[in-house]
Amino acid sequence: MESAFSDLLAPLSSTRRAHTLEVGRKVRGVASRLPETVRDDAVTAAYLHDVGYGFPATGFHPIDGANLLSTRRFSAAVCNLVAFHSAAVIEAEVRGLDAQIFEPFALADAPDIDVASDFVWWADMTTGPTGETVTIDRRLAEIRERYEEGSVVRTAIDRSEPLLRAAVQRAEGSM
Ligand SMILES: [Fe+2]
Repeated sequence: MESAFSDLLAPLSSTRRAHTLEVGRKVRGVASRLPETVRDDAVTAAYLHDVGYGFPATGFHPIDGANLLSTRRFSAAVCNLVAFHSAAVIEAEVRGLDAQIFEPFALADAPDIDVASDFVWWADMTTGPTGETVTIDRRLAEIRERYEEGSVVRTAIDRSEPLLRAAVQRAEGSM
């Protein structure tokens, strides 16, 4: 499975590639807990969630990734999960980006996607920047160490923390 994604992940730094591959492995490891309708898409999205870093177009990686995957004919579910991963909407707001950038990837009334989304966020929030497994506390602290106060990422993480923690809690509660 991983070799199928290696071309797409090749432009990423080796640490970022290690991170995104581990997020994929984590979701694959718990895939049986996911509704069958979204199982494969959740695993694919997890492996590729940070692919946008390797294909910068707008410079906002969740949307760059979703756009790329959409042109490569990945499913609407995969593109949705990548576009919205780990509170991307909040970071977009902090960056002053138009909320319309998410519209092509929105899916109405998709409760199974919401479950899949929790699992992708959980895996991302419990995998450090080089692929090591961490608690969400450690993960948030590490992001705060990497990005200084007042920076976009730091402000976004402060605002999205409750959403990130809630998603992790829901995912862990259903495992
Ligand atoms: Fe990630």
